[in-house]
Amino acid sequence: MSAFSLEVSDRVGVITFDLLGGSVNKFNRAVKDEFSALAERVENDDSIGALVLISGKADGFIAGADIEEFLTLKGTADAERLSREGQLMLDRLERMRTPVIAAVHGACLGGGLEVALACRYRIASDSPRTVFALPEVMLGLLPGAGGTQRLPRLVGLAEALPMMLEGRNVRAKKALQIGLVDEMVHPSILREVAVKRAREIAAGKREGGKHGGGLQRMLLDGNPAGRSLVFGKAHRAVMAKTRGHYPAPLAILDVVRTGFDRGKEHGLREEARMFGELSATDVSKQLIFLFFATTALKKESGVAGEAPPSLPVKKLAVLGTGFMGAGIASIAAPLGTVIRFKDTDHDRVRKGLKGVRDVLGEKVKRRRMTPAELENTMALVGGTVDYSGFHTVDLVIEAVFEELGVKHEVIREMEPHLPAHAVIASNTSTIPIADIASASRRPERVVGMHFFSPVHKMPLLEVIAPPGADREAVTTAVAYGKALGKTVIVVDDAPGFYVNRILAPYINEAGRLLDEGAPIDAIDSALVDFGFPVGPITLLDEVGLDIAGKSGRIMLEAFGDRLAPSQTLLAVQSAGRLGRKGKKGFYTYDEQGKKGDVDATVYAHTPSGSTRSEISRSEIQERTVYAMLNEAARCLEDGIIRSPRDGDVGAVFGIGFPPFRGGPFRYADAIGVVELVRKLEELDARFSGRFTPADLLVQMARRGGERFYER
Ligand code: NAI
Repeated sequence: MSAFSLEVSDRVGVITFDLLGGSVNKFNRAVKDEFSALAERVENDDSIGALVLISGKADGFIAGADIEEFLTLKGTADAERLSREGQLMLDRLERMRTPVIAAVHGACLGGGLEVALACRYRIASDSPRTVFALPEVMLGLLPGAGGTQRLPRLVGLAEALPMMLEGRNVRAKKALQIGLVDEMVHPSILREVAVKRAREIAAGKREGGKHGGGLQRMLLDGNPAGRSLVFGKAHRAVMAKTRGHYPAPLAILDVVRTGFDRGKEHGLREEARMFGELSATDVSKQLIFLFFATTALKKESGVAGEAPPSLPVKKLAVLGTGFMGAGIASIAAPLGTVIRFKDTDHDRVRKGLKGVRDVLGEKVKRRRMTPAELENTMALVGGTVDYSGFHTVDLVIEAVFEELGVKHEVIREMEPHLPAHAVIASNTSTIPIADIASASRRPERVVGMHFFSPVHKMPLLEVIAPPGADREAVTTAVAYGKALGKTVIVVDDAPGFYVNRILAPYINEAGRLLDEGAPIDAIDSALVDFGFPVGPITLLDEVGLDIAGKSGRIMLEAFGDRLAPSQTLLAVQSAGRLGRKGKKGFYTYDEQGKKGDVDATVYAHTPSGSTRSEISRSEIQERTVYAMLNEAARCLEDGIIRSPRDGDVGAVFGIGFPPFRGGPFRYADAIGVVELVRKLEELDARFSGRFTPADLLVQMARRGGERFYER
């Protein structure tokens, strides 16, 4: 194994990191050993006066530690040792006789950034691909190789804390501004400049890490009272955001604080100890599971066995320039896809184009796109009210009204204009694809691409593959969905598919609780406490009560009383409330659509016309969440999803099921299937028919408490 090569010229050694057999550089035990041995060799070689560390990969510096290795850790002591070893290696790097210069082009993440932090001088390429981040917190961990100590000392607490607590990305220009790097250059001269700096630093003519950070930093970081203020504020922000469910950000704050209060040595010891503790938490295990699950999905084609190559989608048609159509065009155009953007009249097309421009405008505001790039991107989206230009499209995504008649009409109308190879995808949220495809002359090329709103923010895409679907049509939808940056799960064709199907009993149960008099805010806050980003009643207002009502009716028709909407939901919907978009729903909204308090006039629509508060928080959580778990098990049993893994990913990324619980199936394992079935039976006795446990769960319980995942 050889990850590093050393080239010496005129007393400057250049170490190139180019891990064999992978697209990115990662640190695992073998790589670390090789690096340490090489560093020792250089240390003892008097012919080398300075070192440059650079990557041999086209677009990445170092992606961090090899996360697979975390899975082999045997408990806290083992993890602590791993962290200690990393710290030691970087301590040695920091103290080397020869100055080391990091020349960074591409992603410099986690352990990769910790390596750069231990170098004497850092140069970044000014490429958009160059990003710095410490994303360990997203895996429920902390930077365990000195990052919690070196970063705040280099850039100050105000910049370092958000990087560590949120895993925030920092681009080269910002890195230069905050002093994370000493210099920024064009990628083509990165190596050359690094070699030159190495020589200058070795000769004592230049120093790195000399960013002052200004008066504010001196006032805040430099004295205990100022630091107390910063840490106190950060702690409150973390608690407000995580409700205490995530131990890692709190541990990071503690460890950084220890380093400031008691010195770097103490800080490092605490860093390693907490790395060990965190690695053994359930939270970290669930987050790492989700990381591996999404990574695995990125590699899957969407069909079993040998997959036919997907069609390249150079030209796309989006039918319906409404809310969803505009969202889809706004993520497709930046890929360089040429788009025919069609609706029935010019006014709607204009509105749709404005919708696309608004999303891109956000990118410009956040400096992810320049104004010129926005104009070039908009130029790819051609508004139309007829089918001109459709003869060369590769894929059509239809997002017209959610009515079977309209879907049939557009399919019949457009097909004569399409080339034979084109794939038709429907963005329907509830109508079975086979029903839509029945109007087609080539139904096997009709699939579902179910996006979630808002399209540019929601990470999930459900691709629906009806039993007779052409395999190339499926791989094309999956590949294009991935190109759009989505995590894609492939699901079977049945009402509600997967995500909306498991959402239905959860929302309905929240509605039943309202029927029984539970206050709106009690329901929402119980589920936010459980870990959902918003409560179910707020979610209804966001989605729109008209859309929710329609979907509820379809689910009732398909699955019967088990999925019957509550009386209050029906009454509030028929009273004409629309939720946020109509500025009237379960909550009040101001003129700008900003959410206010609970709208108490809703209670007039409940069966008793009043509220009572004795329904406990845990009852609210159990009834809503267990209804969802039970439905998820039914989806697995019915083959709607292909695996518990897909079900977990779908719920976390489509609904916001608490990531630290891993997803409904991981959560069911945590409760234990025997206990879950017992609870469901107990609830079923109280609310006949709504909680009958799925056969799959009953069988698993009978077989002695089988699990969805191995331990
Ligand atoms: P929308 O009402 O905002 O947009 C629908 C658009 O389709 C309108 O602009 C309408 O003029 C256009 N349209 C109607 N008939 C047409 C025809 N014959 N040819 C061309 N355009 C036509 O509706 P929205 O919310 O964008 O929904 C569209 C589809 O996306 C529906 O199937 C819906 O179920 C689905 N969906 C909606 C989600 C949401 O949160 N709104 C989420 C996921 C899917």
